[in-house]
Amino acid sequence: MAASESRYRAHLDTRAKEGLARALFPVEMPDARTVRVGGETFVNFASNDYLGLRFHPSLIERAEAWGRRFGVGSGASRLVTGNLTLFEAIEAKIARLKQKPAALIMASGFQANAAILQALLDERVLGAEPLVLTDRLNHASMHFGCAAAGVREIRYRHGDASHLEMLLAEHASSERPKFILTESVFSMDGDVAPLAEIGAIARRHDATLVVDDAHATGILGEGGRGLSDEADIIIGTFSKALGGFGAYVACSALLREYLINRCTGFVYSTALPPPVLGAIDAALDLLPTLDAERAHVANLAGRFRQEAGALGFDTGASTTQIVPLIVGDTKAALSLSDTLREARIYATAIRPPTVPKGTARVRLALNAAHRGSDIDSLLAALANCAAKPEVAPAGA
Ligand SMILES: Cc1ncc(COP(=O)(O)O)c(C=O)c1O
Repeated sequence: MAASESRYRAHLDTRAKEGLARALFPVEMPDARTVRVGGETFVNFASNDYLGLRFHPSLIERAEAWGRRFGVGSGASRLVTGNLTLFEAIEAKIARLKQKPAALIMASGFQANAAILQALLDERVLGAEPLVLTDRLNHASMHFGCAAAGVREIRYRHGDASHLEMLLAEHASSERPKFILTESVFSMDGDVAPLAEIGAIARRHDATLVVDDAHATGILGEGGRGLSDEADIIIGTFSKALGGFGAYVACSALLREYLINRCTGFVYSTALPPPVLGAIDAALDLLPTLDAERAHVANLAGRFRQEAGALGFDTGASTTQIVPLIVGDTKAALSLSDTLREARIYATAIRPPTVPKGTARVRLALNAAHRGSDIDSLLAALANCAAKPEVAPAGA
């Protein structure tokens, strides 16, 4: 075994001892509501397909039609040979949805944050190292993009606009270009950043506000347009409420031109394939018609939060379709997920480093395909947990 391999083995062994090992296991996903594991059916509360669009006939039909008509691959980077006219038509739809002058399609949400932030925060272009203020709970891909740009993040307390303002005030006389990076809806907590306050702070300090709208686009905001109205630059993904895959940035025409020239993840990566574009296009067309689905999800989430809270579970500051059950200890989170599995409920334990130490949780994501009776079963399973000391909520 090469020396590096034995190091990797030791690292994996340590993770396993700490209850942090991750592994892949096979599932089947017959529809947006359920998942099959080992031949058994579970109600799926682990998927970010908040509108249940993965199986929507319009998305499937357009994906199929565009695959037949334009092929299943795009051949190369858009700058080399892949700039099908389809891209710009979809980008116009995204720009309209997000009320920005322009948009650019990227390969995935992770890749978008990683590559766009690297280009945006380039010290050589900006003339000085930018001052980058980030919510400490931002998604890994945003931290990754900052690291790739070589900037030192100044992390403000989660969702704390006063802390953000205080940190910016410390640099009030600095000439360095300023950026604020936040998610709109936080992926592991389901809470919403105080975007109106953050937007006002950005304007007061002449900072560029970048918002990752991944978990709001499609499911929240008027007509599903998300919660990013305050942002100068919006990054988001088609892989969650839009049911497919791929990502976008919505921004000024100038920034789009800059990214086409300087964003390595755009320049050096094969463009999204036509079937994926077909699904994106159909999902964007459907969004304005899905108010009833959005209201259904909001109602289910509201009821679930209230009743889980009454059972003694800590749902944190969630106000959206993402509802965590925060248990603290990693093993307790795994155990709660296993107990729910016994009741045919599929929900994943989320552990550090995805969430801060001591805040391990089971993350539940509600979607439009869920029924009231699914919430009944979930709550009944949680009520049973109160009888089991290893998974009972503190105080229950
Ligand atoms: C806030 C946030 N941004 C970006 C991503 C990455 O998006 P994608 O899954 O399209 O790579 C995720 C998904 O995990 C996310 O939660």
